[in-house]
This record gives sequence, C-alpha cells and structure tokens, in this order.
Amino acid sequence: MIFNCFTMNVPSHIYHGTWRHPENQLADFNSFETWSGLARKLEEGKFDAMFFADILGIDPAYDGKWDAYFEQGLHMPCNDTFTLCTALAAVTRNLGFVFTSSILSEHPFSFAKKVSTLDHISGGRIGWNIVTSVTENAARNFGHESIVPHDQRYDWADEYMEVLYKLWEGSWEDDALLADRKSGIYSDHTKVHRINHAGSRYRVQGPHLVSPSPQRTPMLYQAGASPRGSRFAAQHAEGTFVLYPNVGGARIGIDKTREIARQNGRDPDDLKFIQGLSFVVGSTMEEAQRKAAEIDEWVSYEGLAAHVSRDMGVDLSHLDPDQPVDESGLDGLQGYARMIEIGKQSGEKATVKEVANALSYNCRIVGTPESIADELELWQDAGVSGVNMICQLHPATYVDFIDHVTPVLQERGLAQRDYAEGPLRRKLFGKSARLPATHRGAAFRNLAAVAQTAAE
Ligand SMILES: Cc1cc2nc3c(=O)[nH]c(=O)nc-3n(C[C@H](O)[C@H](O)[C@H](O)COP(=O)(O)O)c2cc1C
Repeated sequence: MIFNCFTMNVPSHIYHGTWRHPENQLADFNSFETWSGLARKLEEGKFDAMFFADILGIDPAYDGKWDAYFEQGLHMPCNDTFTLCTALAAVTRNLGFVFTSSILSEHPFSFAKKVSTLDHISGGRIGWNIVTSVTENAARNFGHESIVPHDQRYDWADEYMEVLYKLWEGSWEDDALLADRKSGIYSDHTKVHRINHAGSRYRVQGPHLVSPSPQRTPMLYQAGASPRGSRFAAQHAEGTFVLYPNVGGARIGIDKTREIARQNGRDPDDLKFIQGLSFVVGSTMEEAQRKAAEIDEWVSYEGLAAHVSRDMGVDLSHLDPDQPVDESGLDGLQGYARMIEIGKQSGEKATVKEVANALSYNCRIVGTPESIADELELWQDAGVSGVNMICQLHPATYVDFIDHVTPVLQERGLAQRDYAEGPLRRKLFGKSARLPATHRGAAFRNLAAVAQTAAE
C-alpha cells in the first residue's frame, strides 16, 4: 500500500483544537524545523510522500463570520505549500511531495515553469493535487466577481490541463537537449516547439522554457466526487484522494470510478485510490483507547463544525449536534449523511455531529499494530491502494505509526521495506516515470501531429 502523510502548512488541519496539545509542534508551523524533522522521520519509515492541502481564501462560513477560523488556527494563517515542498525536497532523498495548487492561482505558463523546475531539482519526486477552489473569497482574491459555477470550473480545469500537457509533454522532443561540449550546442532548436494554444481562457505561444524534467508531468492527484469531478478524475488523475466513510462504501465507489476510467480509454490500474484515515496506536487495545480519549480531550467540536460548514457550504453553527440530519432541514448535508448510513445498523440515521466528524472520526482506526494491519487489509481488499494519513499530533501520529505499525505491515507485505529507484511515478506504479500512453496527457506528446489535427 501507498503511505502518505496528509497535512497542511497551517496550525490546525483536521483534528481542530489539538494544536494546543503539549506534544503537538504545529503551534510552531512557521518554523522549517517543524517540517524537516517530520520529513526525515517519514523517510526513515519509508513513507511514499507528504501530501499538502492548501487554500486561497477564507469565507465567513460559520455563523456568518470568520472568527472561528482565526481563533482556532483552522487553516488560518495558511502558508504556501509549494515553497515548503521545495525546501523539504532539499533535505530528503526519496520522499515524494504532493502540493495542492488551484487553477485559479496561477497562469498555466508560469505554473508549468515552476513545476518543471522543482521536478528537476527534486529528481522527479513531486505530485500535484489539482483543485479548482470552492470559496467566494478565493475567487475575489483573484479578481473574479464571484465563484465560477461548479461544472464550468471543471471545464476551465480541462483547458488548464491541456495547456500544461502541451508545455510539459509536447514542447520539447526527448532528444532536444544535447548539452554537448564538443559541438558547443546546448539544445537542438529544431526539436523544441511552440504550442500555439488558443482556447476560451488562455492563449499561450510557447515554447516551454524548461527542458524535460524526470516525470515531465508531475504525478497528478485529484479529489472530486461529483459526477463532473469523477469524470475529470477519470480523465486526468493518477491518484484520487477519497474519503469513504467505510470499507463497503469504498468498494462501491472505487469500482464505479474505475469503470468511468475504463470508458475513457484508460487502464483502470493506472488510477490509485488513496483513502484518508487516521490512527491511534497502543500496545494493547485499552492503551490505544486511552490514548485516543486523551487526544479527544483537546479536540474542539466548534472547529470540526466550522470546517465542515465551509467545505459543504452548510452552516452547522446553530444545529443541535445530536439531531438527525434528516430533521435539520438542510439539503446540503443529505448526500454525506447517506454515505455515513451505509456503514450503520439498518435504519439508523446519521446525526449532525457525525457529519461534523466526517473528516476526522469516521475514518479513525484505534488499535494495536496487529489490529490496525488487519483493518488495512480490509481497505486494501475493497480496492484502496493507499492511505493519506491524517495528523492528530505532529509528529507523534507518524512516529507512533512508523515505530510500531510499519514493521508489522512490512512483515505482512503491506508496506515497503525500501524505496524503489527513480521518480515518484515510477516508485508508485513500477513502470515508466512518464505518463502512461493511455493517459490523456500523452496525446500531446507529438505537438506537430496535434497541430495538424487541429488545423484539419
Ligand atoms: C479529501 C479532499 C481533500 C481536498 N483538499 C483540497 C485542498 O487542499 N484545497 C482545495 O481548494 N480543495 C480541496 N478539496 C476540494 C476538491 O478539490 C473539490 O473541489 C471538492 O471535493 C468538490 O469537488 P466535487 O464537487 O467534484 O465533488 C478537497 C476535497 C477532498 C474530498
């Protein structure tokens, strides 16, 4: 299985309130040592990557105010993830770095340049979590009147990807870079091409300014679950970040997305499903439960509710946490409530609190190294390829897991004992460092042919 650390360059990511815990270093998240120490530990434990979430704006989504987000350190303040990944790549050798970047935040031409540069200097260890930004404030921070409607954001993202594929995959032929001291020729200009992209949002002439990096296109992640989002994932994503409330839900959802990928001409095995999970480890079940209860004393329900209010666009501030969602009168929560109910005894209704806990508790596994390994086997059997491990205490969550659970997983063949050679995509798929031939991006490799088809 793939093991990623899932985190964010902020004081409080998902288990809100725990930044105050004496063992949690995230109160000092501005310090580079807070991150470099964790990265080194993850590499010692043969984790595949650090996966960083990111945002571009803050809406007053809880009780009509933004107070809770600032007070709780809930994604606020929020540092840039790309910059941190660049620094962390310099102090590691094998660990991958997946940063989140929105189509809203940067023109694809400059984004392509930046990403190719980091792919070069990290030896191809990077991935990109493609997001379209869902907050009004993010839209206004980038000069838009309001947020672009849902499906149009994905159309925009399709064009953004097309520009990038042209730059990353098509602009430079494989043998364009010579660096030949004898002839004195660095690059063969006949093998470098303009892209001449003219679309509804972007006009980009090219060529790409950076020579082909180890992966060319970074490993692509995405996390959308709507019909349009799933279609986007089936076309572009190589890793999809999922948050199924239970193993049964994962099996159904993964089978469905793999089928959409197949219909899009892709090999369904070229799509990895990475489930968000958190763990509390003890040498006995009692010890694990005691540790979980101790962490819970620090968790803030208001923080959890404010987070979900923003992400789901439904204000939970005035709802009774124990009320069934069906009685809340709020439409926006129904989809998630049904997902939670899949894993419950027949007829039992999901409550507002369970929805607020969606990101944290619903997928928390508390147990001994052996019982955790047993549960991971069930997730794997349902089609899950790996885990985005949610942080409760930084770095204790990962130190506990690596010291106690990883050896058991390695013994059972569920976790790697060492890194495979090469860039991130090769490490994870065991194949080429480049996009597979059936991926949409691969169609842009021969730009001359692409231009010819367009002209026709
Ligand atoms: C597990 C998960 C993590 C996400 N991380 C981010 C993030 O870091 N930044 C962001 O702007 N959006 C993030 N999103 C939002 C998604 O990119 C997407 O916009 C959202 O899930 C709605 O997509 P959909 O309507 O296709 O389901 C995340 C979503 C999920 C489910």
